[in-house]
Amino acid sequence: FQPKRLAGRHVLITAGPTFEAIDPVRGITNRSSGKMGFAIARAAREAGAQVTLVAGPVALPTPRGVQRVNVQSALDMQRAVQASADAADVFIAAAAVADWRPATEAGQKIKKDGSGAVPALAFVENPDILAGVAASARAQSGALYCVGFAAESHDLLAHAQAKRARKGVPLLVGNIGPDTFGLDHNALLLVDAQGARELPRADKLSLARALVAEIAQRLG
Ligand code: C5P
Repeated sequence: FQPKRLAGRHVLITAGPTFEAIDPVRGITNRSSGKMGFAIARAAREAGAQVTLVAGPVALPTPRGVQRVNVQSALDMQRAVQASADAADVFIAAAAVADWRPATEAGQKIKKDGSGAVPALAFVENPDILAGVAASARAQSGALYCVGFAAESHDLLAHAQAKRARKGVPLLVGNIGPDTFGLDHNALLLVDAQGARELPRADKLSLARALVAEIAQRLG
């Protein structure tokens, strides 16, 4: 028996990578599988929440009962998040959002001209979706509980604490690495105002259920 600890709550989750177009056939992305975010969506739904899952390009099946919004770029993801954030009680940013996007997207496929010349790509920084939501009035007042993730290769606790402060979120979840991209197991470090607590190594669905229970407890 699992109590429906999130009944009546709306949970908004981002998951997967983003895809930043260079031209109609090319782009830049990353190796995020989306598995952790999708597992959290499933766990939140199991806990009785209404769940909106804003997903970058991944081939994973939609968890039962979850409303999925597919997006490509970071800007698309930001728009989709902003469209749902006002109705949400919890925002969990599990997506691996691209830090930069090509400054311009070519309208047509960039062609080789035969001279051996290579295109020069210029980049601009993407908006920080989580920091933006965390700075909103509803998040600042506590009406919207924001959770961020961090993937670090070293000094996870120090980086997670710094990231928690920088993003302005009450709870920052560190992936206990080195690199869990695409894998089915992980361990998590939960960093909040009280300190740090480890969720020991387990499959991502078990971790997602434990994380959702922790969040439900913090909501009171
Ligand atoms: O700064 P960094 O990318 O390490 O932060 C990771 C956290 O911030 C994750 O929760 C991620 O989903 C979120 N993020 C975001 N928008 C960005 C970059 C990161 O929401 N542009």
